[in-house]
Amino acid sequence: MQKILILDFGGQYNQLIARRVRENRVYCEVHPWSMPVGEIRSFDPIGIIFTGGPRSVYASDSPRVDPELFRLGIPILGICYGCQLLAQMLGGRVLPAQAETAREYGKTLARMKLFCGLFSGLPEESVVWMSHGDYVAALPEGFSLCAESASCPCVAICDEERRFYGVQFHPEVNHTEYGREILRNFLFPVCGAAGDWTMSDYRERTVAEFRRKVGPGRVLLALSGGVDSSVAAALLSEAVGSQLTCVFVDHGLLRKDEADEIEKAFSGRNLRFIRVNAQERFLRRLSGVTEPEMKRRIIGEEFIRVFEEEAKKLGAVDFLAQGTIYPDVIESGAGAAAVIKSHHNVGGLPDCVDFREILEPLRMLFKDEVRELGRSLGLPEALVTRQPFPGPGLAIRVIGEVTAEKLEILRGADAIFREEMARDGQAGRADQYFAALTDMRTVGVKGDARSYEYALALRAVTTEDYMTADWARLPWELLDRVSGRIVNEVSGVNRVLYDITGKPPATVEYE
Ligand code: XMP
Repeated sequence: MQKILILDFGGQYNQLIARRVRENRVYCEVHPWSMPVGEIRSFDPIGIIFTGGPRSVYASDSPRVDPELFRLGIPILGICYGCQLLAQMLGGRVLPAQAETAREYGKTLARMKLFCGLFSGLPEESVVWMSHGDYVAALPEGFSLCAESASCPCVAICDEERRFYGVQFHPEVNHTEYGREILRNFLFPVCGAAGDWTMSDYRERTVAEFRRKVGPGRVLLALSGGVDSSVAAALLSEAVGSQLTCVFVDHGLLRKDEADEIEKAFSGRNLRFIRVNAQERFLRRLSGVTEPEMKRRIIGEEFIRVFEEEAKKLGAVDFLAQGTIYPDVIESGAGAAAVIKSHHNVGGLPDCVDFREILEPLRMLFKDEVRELGRSLGLPEALVTRQPFPGPGLAIRVIGEVTAEKLEILRGADAIFREEMARDGQAGRADQYFAALTDMRTVGVKGDARSYEYALALRAVTTEDYMTADWARLPWELLDRVSGRIVNEVSGVNRVLYDITGKPPATVEYE
């Protein structure tokens, strides 16, 4: 299988580079810059990409690669820090940019020389996205200058002979007008990629690999009903059938009908499916608790306790499976990028379960690839396209104390919102949308009588990474219909609010 190796120097867009490569149906993996050259040789990439990074190549302790790498005959594309590293290590010179010369952040108009393989077929001028404080002041032997801008003398360099390319800008971000084409030029004509990597290849290979690895062993998986654990379960069931036991803890904090849908999706499959109805137990533990972090802690702990009790009934298992996906792997420091993520999913590692090894069948896939795999495994569309849903579930969307009554109100309202979003064709326009029940009662008038009921909030956001988000500009008519239906059909609500706050300063969830 053809592979691109991405060597990670700690830049902020590294995941995006991997995404862009995979979009072209070329398989790639991100590894730390320090990957030994022997391992690189056996990884056998058709091309290598050096990412950007926060350091300066002229600092004595800056990350660099083994010079042997340049003698492997493999094409290399250096991006930003990667470009400077290529230049410096091959005999050029990199200097700190002075304010008036080459320091650039943001969009810049660059002029490209079309003899360079990276720019073939592109216009001579286009906008690129710069973010750098250093620049290449002298080219290494064998290299030519192949792009420049008004303030940066050296925007791109290439050595067509050795197939080494360096770009000072970021082709992976959308702001670079022809960024996708530039990466494609590197992948296809330069590296000779075929672009034939498909999800069914992945599925076949992974099924065979896990069948071999598991042998006659037993596998246990905590199924949350989320996309990742569901796809992991379906994939492993194909690999090892009834040697797989899935424990689904219904904590009673899922959305309307969700628990039954999950059970239905797995009922016809070859695996052991155990549903634990623990709603009352969770509600008891949550009774009187209003503080959000406390709710999270209680739910997390209780989840593990319930899971362990089930696991004990099964006795020792050989493997514990998890739905870890590639962004989690990269973010938790598999590359050199800083650890960003602090969110955890309920169903994290139960350390008292007796198992030998962890299985992570999705650890090389991005979210949309996981969805594609789920479809190819025949999971229902609703499950495969399910929006992100927090592990603590509706407990952090019921503000204040969680009670059965409040959950019931919230479920009803949330279902109406989702139904109308789907009917109106708006579902794809927001990345996450839901109802939250405020802890506030307000005065209203229903029929001819005074009412004193809850105010319910609707939230819909657009976001790329959930670190920042904007509120979705949903059509008024849709909001009007949702509001009308909620106050009419859900008893206990007499006022509906639409949240028009971005993140920051708000967060996506209310608690
Ligand atoms: P916030 O509220 O932090 O949400 O802006 C960003 C994303 O993370 C999800 N989220 C959670 N997921 N456990 C989870 O598994 C949690 O405790 C949790 N809190 C927030 C949220 O739904 C959104 O997608």
